[in-house]
Amino acid sequence: MLPFQNRLKKMARHHGKWARRQELDAYRIYDADLDEYPITVDRYGEQLYVSIYHRRGEEWTDADFQDRKLAYRDAITETLEVGRDQVFFKLRKRQSGTDQYEKLSVAQREFTVAENGLGFIVNLTDYLDTGLFLDHRQTRMMIAKDVQATENAVVLNLFAGTCSFTIYAAAAGAKRVDSVELSKTYLDWGERNLALNELEKGNHRFLQEDAMQWLKKDRNPNYDIVILDPPTFSNSKRMRDSLDVQRDHVGLINRSLSLLKPGGRLYFMTSFRKFKLAEDYLKGAASVKEITGQTVPPDFRKRKPHRCWLLVRTDEEA
Ligand SMILES: C[S@@+](CC[C@H](N)C(=O)[O-])C[C@H]1O[C@@H](n2cnc3c(N)ncnc32)[C@H](O)[C@@H]1O
Repeated sequence: MLPFQNRLKKMARHHGKWARRQELDAYRIYDADLDEYPITVDRYGEQLYVSIYHRRGEEWTDADFQDRKLAYRDAITETLEVGRDQVFFKLRKRQSGTDQYEKLSVAQREFTVAENGLGFIVNLTDYLDTGLFLDHRQTRMMIAKDVQATENAVVLNLFAGTCSFTIYAAAAGAKRVDSVELSKTYLDWGERNLALNELEKGNHRFLQEDAMQWLKKDRNPNYDIVILDPPTFSNSKRMRDSLDVQRDHVGLINRSLSLLKPGGRLYFMTSFRKFKLAEDYLKGAASVKEITGQTVPPDFRKRKPHRCWLLVRTDEEA
C-alpha cells in the first residue's frame, strides 16, 4: 500500500490547501490516481467517504470486499491521521450496476458541510447518495450566476434529489424554484437544506412527483432556467414507466425546452459514461453547447464524472 499512501498524502496536502482557500468542506482527495489502487477518497468535513471499484472482469465475494476495505482503512487512517470511525466505505459494482453500502446500525448519521458559503446536510451511511454530489460544485455555481443575472428568475429543478441546485438558485435570489423529485426522503432533505440556509420557503415548491409524468402535463412556458439531472436508469415502483437516460433523453429535453420562456436556458447533465446526445432530434433550441469543460471541478482528474450541456430556447413559438 506504500505507493497508495504516498500519493494519498500528497493529494491530501495539495487539495487541502486549495479547499481552504476556496472555503470548501467537501472535495475529492484521491481520484483513482494510481491504476493499481482503484478507489476514490472524498472528504466531507471531518469524515472520509471511500468508494472501492470493481475492476472489469473481477468477481468479488463479500469476504474479498471486507479484506480490501480493511487494508484501505488501515492505510487511510494511518496516512491521514484520522480515526477508524471517520472512514466510510461504498463498493461500486461495475457490471451489475448495484452498489453495496456500509450500513450503520446507528440511525441517521447526519452532519453539515459548507460549500461556497452555503450549508448542506450530508449522510455518508444511510442512503444511496451522500446528499451532495461533489462533481457538480461548479455547475451549481454557474446556475447561481445565471439566476443572479436574471431578474426575478423562475427556475425548475427536475430530478432534484436533495435540492442542492435549488438551494444555490434560491440563495442567488430566484423568485421561485420548483423542485420535482420522486423520493420524499430526498425532498424533505431539500427542504431542510433550505431551512439550514435560513432561506424562506416563500414561493418555492417541493413537488413529490414522477418527473416524466409531470413533464407530460400541459404547462405554460414560464421558466427562465430548467435543470435536468436524470438518473442513468430508474424503475422505482412509484413510476409509471422506467427511465433510461439514453433512450428517453430526447423526450425529456424537448419537454424541458418547451417549458422555457424564449431565450431561457436548459442545463442538462448525465453521469452515464457511454451517453450520446441525439442532437438531430432536439426541438426548440437555438443553441446546444457542451460545457463539460467548465463544469468538471479540478479535484476530479481521472475521468469526466459527468457531461453537461447548455441549451438555449429559441425565440419562436414551439
Ligand atoms: C442524478 S440524481 C439527481 C441529483 C440532484 N440533481 C442533486 O443535485 O442532488 C437523480 C434523482 O432522480 C430521482 N428520480 C429517479 N426517478 C425519478 C422520477 N421518475 N421522477 C423524479 N425523480 C426521480 C432520484 O431519486 C434521484 O434523487
